[in-house]
Amino acid sequence: MSIQALRGTHDILPPSTDIWRALETYSADLFSSFGYKELRTPIFESTELFQRTIGENTDIVSKEMYTFNDRKNRSITLRPEGTASIARSVIQHKLIQPGQSLKLYYTGPMFRYERPQAGRQRQFHQTGLECLGSSHYMADVEVIQILYRWFSGLGLGDIKIVLNTTGSLSSRPKITETMRQWLTPVKASLCEDCQTRFHKNVLRIYDCKVKSCREIVDTLPGFLELIEGEDLEHFKNVKQGLTALGLPFEVSPKCVRGLDYYTRTIFEIHSTLDQDGQSVLAGGGRYDQLYQDMQNPFAIPAVGFAIGMERVISLLDTQKHHLVISEKPLLAILCPEESDYAANLNLAQTLRSARIRVEMDILGRNLKSQMKWASKIKADFALIQGSTERDQKKCIVKNLNSFETQELNVDQLSQWANQIFK
Ligand code: HAM
Repeated sequence: MSIQALRGTHDILPPSTDIWRALETYSADLFSSFGYKELRTPIFESTELFQRTIGENTDIVSKEMYTFNDRKNRSITLRPEGTASIARSVIQHKLIQPGQSLKLYYTGPMFRYERPQAGRQRQFHQTGLECLGSSHYMADVEVIQILYRWFSGLGLGDIKIVLNTTGSLSSRPKITETMRQWLTPVKASLCEDCQTRFHKNVLRIYDCKVKSCREIVDTLPGFLELIEGEDLEHFKNVKQGLTALGLPFEVSPKCVRGLDYYTRTIFEIHSTLDQDGQSVLAGGGRYDQLYQDMQNPFAIPAVGFAIGMERVISLLDTQKHHLVISEKPLLAILCPEESDYAANLNLAQTLRSARIRVEMDILGRNLKSQMKWASKIKADFALIQGSTERDQKKCIVKNLNSFETQELNVDQLSQWANQIFK
């Protein structure tokens, strides 16, 4: 059998690539309208980076990373997400000084060894952003606003914002202790992983996918019972900010996310249409401790999100949603005789230099077949120049939508094209 793409990976073929490019441009435009700049990081990093930031007891680090030793026996991991790499880069290049803020966005492939199914791949793509330097609730509100606008701007209205808070790091010992007390009577019924989580990272039990653990968690109180003081105040302010903006959200007090670095606000965007169980289209939250955990000399509070692009594209597909992909009109240059090809190459070049999209036949078709080909590639105009027209420095232009034909002087061509194609 011929070589196939690996399980959980996909080729993105044309014309789908047009949708991907349109979404990338759309994201870049929206994010930059809020002052974000793009940062590109490598797709592999030292394994330690993800172990230290995402958390040893998370599914991502304990089960899903693509980790290998390179030729010098260093442990390398294909990035499972973008936040840790952005933090590494910001610290390495000293991109932010104390008291400043920094707004960054990114897009690209991520890798997780998960069981492939609809909406879950081993190589998938995220576009996301990170707002650094502010611990103010306004940063949370603005980041959630951008995320919501990203979806609503695409006409994807069947979504909801799911919101929760898991408290700041200083309140964690108390939260952890209370959770252990709640769970102690039912500890023996927890799955094997949760037995370990009970001691190492009790919050993760709320994220367990095993049915019996889910049933136990269903009987327990949520985080709002455990949050107090400034943490509660922060959460109230975020909710008020979202309400003032008219953004619909739902508080889900037992929501924890699959990464350990979050403190205070966490949020997800869910599709309200069933998407084969993969309804979480995007997720994010505040992470005020990550930069210090990575030995940055000063605190950099932060909040951000990442959108799962495959899930969004599949939702657009199921909704038969047509993105408006603005493509410049296309002009096909037709050659009546074999000898016209070389001469018309220059004509094509002149038009392309005037930023016009031009195609020429490369299969040596006769004129009639070239005309059919021009319709097939959905050219808007056919330009014909044979030796007679060339001698007279003229060409014939046919509008393939209205079928009007006109004769033009070659020196007027760029001007004509600029008017038509602007
Ligand atoms: P995450 O929730 O792990 O967050 O991933 C964000 C989104 O990526 C998910 O909501 C989902 O749509 C998509 N996704 C995750 N895994 C897969 C997969 N195997 N196949 C397809 N799509 C997937 C993060 O990655 C955080 N770094 C987000 C963040 C940024 N938090 C703060 N800043």
